[in-house]
Amino acid sequence: MVRAWISHTADQTHAQLEELDDTPFQTGEVKIQVQYSCLNYKDALALTHTAPIARKFPMVHGIDGVGLVVESTHSRWQKGECVQVNDWGLGETHWGGLCTTLSVPAAWVSKLPEGRSGRWAAALGTAGYTAALCVMAILDHGTRPEDGPVLVTGVTGGVGSVSTLLLKHLGYEVLGLTGSIDAAGEPLNDSVARHFLNLDLDGSQLIHRDAFAKPGKPLQKTDFAAVVDSVGSHTLVNACARTNYGGIVTACGLAQGMDFEANVAPFILRGITLRGINCVMRSEADRDRAWAMLADAFDEHSIDWMFREIAMEQALEVSRQLLNNEIQGRVVVRCA
Ligand SMILES: NC(=O)c1ccc[n+]([C@@H]2O[C@H](COP(=O)([O-])OP(=O)(O)OC[C@H]3O[C@@H](n4cnc5c(N)ncnc54)[C@H](OP(=O)(O)O)[C@@H]3O)[C@@H](O)[C@H]2O)c1
Repeated sequence: MVRAWISHTADQTHAQLEELDDTPFQTGEVKIQVQYSCLNYKDALALTHTAPIARKFPMVHGIDGVGLVVESTHSRWQKGECVQVNDWGLGETHWGGLCTTLSVPAAWVSKLPEGRSGRWAAALGTAGYTAALCVMAILDHGTRPEDGPVLVTGVTGGVGSVSTLLLKHLGYEVLGLTGSIDAAGEPLNDSVARHFLNLDLDGSQLIHRDAFAKPGKPLQKTDFAAVVDSVGSHTLVNACARTNYGGIVTACGLAQGMDFEANVAPFILRGITLRGINCVMRSEADRDRAWAMLADAFDEHSIDWMFREIAMEQALEVSRQLLNNEIQGRVVVRCA
């Protein structure tokens, strides 16, 4: 039997944790005994049925899975190896990782960086991997630390936190956009204060997200050499309007919204590059480079403060907290 967070129809109010027959989990080339999954924003939307993430039913949720190979019909992966799968449509079109057994094509499987555990990989998960892809795009654009600060939106979130740490590790100055400070710029509570301390962001490096949340002029005073945006909507438009000549804005998320009511002025008058970041189907070279960058920045225990570990049973309740903005950083789900 397999334990899994599953939705049988789109009409359910939320997903259920159920014991399922093992048979449907036998179909892929590689069968993984899942040790850890995690809760990304997308997982929280899916489990609570807040947005239509699953594209077919029944669907097992969870866009990440980390664990041990228990069966493999492909020579690339051997029984006993610790591996991970990030996104690839898990929880959307293919049964996902919030379960005890995952069965996937061999091409979707990634190795863990040398010397890093499954728990470490799940703590970073798709959010951390996507943050690394955003930072890679900034590096490849040629933006250097001396070109100016990088704006990171949704800075207490998974993508935002990991981007901040990665950029700082590489020597960039980071300005964080956040809704987790009050009008006077003070953290909303002790846990947020600790989070900012761990991100090494003080009050002078934080901007309240209200400053970017409404429609603004297409060209504004420039402040940033680059942007990592996980928020979308007017925030993304304003970020483009405030990026230096020739800068790059990486857009990966939609926590504020999917809309993008922009003007071409920043692109044609300031040569801004808007780079969409999608983690779902990346080459093995990109995946390995992103995970190597994460391993270089974070040793096994340096990110322990950034995540909480929960039991499978808690995934729905914690998803609701995540959507209510009550959680900073990452959530690891213990599946085994
Ligand atoms: N393109 C891809 O391949 C890819 C991969 C991974 C994630 N994503 C997307 O990236 C986004 C972030 O994911 P995540 O896992 O980091 O989520 P998360 O941990 O929930 O973080 C999202 C953060 O956004 C901010 N936020 C929330 N509601 C907002 C609003 N209405 N307006 C402005 N900011 C808001 C909050 O930070 P503050 O309190 O600091 O403001 C929150 O912590 C999601 O939209 C997710 O779907 C995309």
